[in-house]
Amino acid sequence: MNIATIVLSAGKGTRMNSEIPKVLHKVLGKEIILWTTDTIKNFQNKFFVIGHKHQLVAEYILDDSDVIIQEQQLGTGHALLVVFNDQGFLSKAYDYVLVIPGDVPLMEEETLNRLVSNVVAHEATIGFIVASVDNPFGYGRVILDKYNNVSRIVEEREASEEEKEINLINSGIYCFKYDFIANHIGQLRDKNEQHEFYLTDLVELAFTKKQKILVEESSEVSIMGINSMDQLHNLEREARDGVINKHIDNGVYFQDATTAYIDKDVVIGTGTKILANTHLLGKTVIGENCNIGPNTMISDSDIGPRSTVIYSVVTESSMKQEVQIGPYAHLRPGSNLGKNVKVGAFAETKKSNIGDGSKVPHLAYIGDGEIEKNVNFSAGAITVNYDGENKNKTVIKEGAFIGSDVMLIAPITIGKGAFIGAGSVVTKDVPSKALAVERSEQKNIEGYVDRKKNKKDKK
Ligand code: UD1
Ligand code: CA
Repeated sequence: MNIATIVLSAGKGTRMNSEIPKVLHKVLGKEIILWTTDTIKNFQNKFFVIGHKHQLVAEYILDDSDVIIQEQQLGTGHALLVVFNDQGFLSKAYDYVLVIPGDVPLMEEETLNRLVSNVVAHEATIGFIVASVDNPFGYGRVILDKYNNVSRIVEEREASEEEKEINLINSGIYCFKYDFIANHIGQLRDKNEQHEFYLTDLVELAFTKKQKILVEESSEVSIMGINSMDQLHNLEREARDGVINKHIDNGVYFQDATTAYIDKDVVIGTGTKILANTHLLGKTVIGENCNIGPNTMISDSDIGPRSTVIYSVVTESSMKQEVQIGPYAHLRPGSNLGKNVKVGAFAETKKSNIGDGSKVPHLAYIGDGEIEKNVNFSAGAITVNYDGENKNKTVIKEGAFIGSDVMLIAPITIGKGAFIGAGSVVTKDVPSKALAVERSEQKNIEGYVDRKKNKKDKK
């Protein structure tokens, strides 16, 4: 059985009131079009119809799919007409055509498979996915004849008051017999309020030709379409619940899921606890048995098992097992930590490797650092990595101890096991096991405080 899958994503999305093409808006951190790409990843013969700002949209279409440009967007029926006039599409013979709108991101692969197998099994001419919804506003309503057979689909704009009461709606996802479209797509007319060619009119055409039409029921959430910012917002909420519920099923604990923001592709290990106000974004991976939050934002980062991140921001960074971050730490892009590392309160790191067992417990900055194992970086110590023109590197070898309030003026290397006295401004490399101190000698003036007080009292 040869099936072509066609995704319709040429429309502008006028009702969104946005410069961004509709399918490039994001739901849970991921462009709408990529949700569909994920859902149909196992399908063969994929075609994406793009039009409005197509150069932008084309960037998101994977190499395993073909692109067909619909220059003028004259409606969903016209989009399919363009496909059926495309030489690339016509170069291969298909038995069925699966059509999916690009703005229905929560549809599941399993439901699509169910639709296709039922259409094939019953040799139907058209099968389409429907749902019974509380608020059908904006969707095409499914009209049944007196024998309960589907006879047509009527759009919101053309629906009579009575038809608007119908709760059974069209998802916009259809499986057609290839020959039926090939023979009838040219017969669509734009005689409606919008002067558009409606793909939905093929249903009525099939009915009048006494063709077999079947419907496949799906859930209200799975068929949600996005036409306005309001619908995008509602869909985001549903998608968020869905994603969090999957993590809960996998053994992740949420202190309060209503304050958790977890992007679509985030992976969370079993036994991990997500505390209040936690954002896990992009391609973040959290290991097993971690404690994340409260009040934490982690983007595009990899957190090893049994680690803790409290009240902190972590971006494009990675860490191995049993790492402790925060409270109030800021890991900027390119911070790569080994196991058992600690980055504590008001410490910031950037583009630095920090070896196993090293500690940066408080008030420190490490930028462009190559920090080996078991280094202690005391309170107030910093790498002075920027000289106003260039970013320079600080290398600290295994086991070195950097005292409090030390400035390491990069480029610089601190040898293995070396010790830097507190308050030093270090500008020269320090050999292994050496002590480096750079500060003026301390002077104690005996009896100074009393003498000063006596002077004041006399006045
Ligand atoms: C469509 C259906 C409606 C259904 C709803 C489900 C029609 C006439 N109506 O309405 O019955 O309930 O979807 O969400 O089909 N597109 C193109 N080229 C065009 C026009 C649209 O590629 O010329 C694409 C859009 O980018 C979009 C999809 O087709 O991804 C659906 O178009 P849209 O305008 O959103 O249709 P709806 O009004 O939602
Ligand atoms: Ca739509």
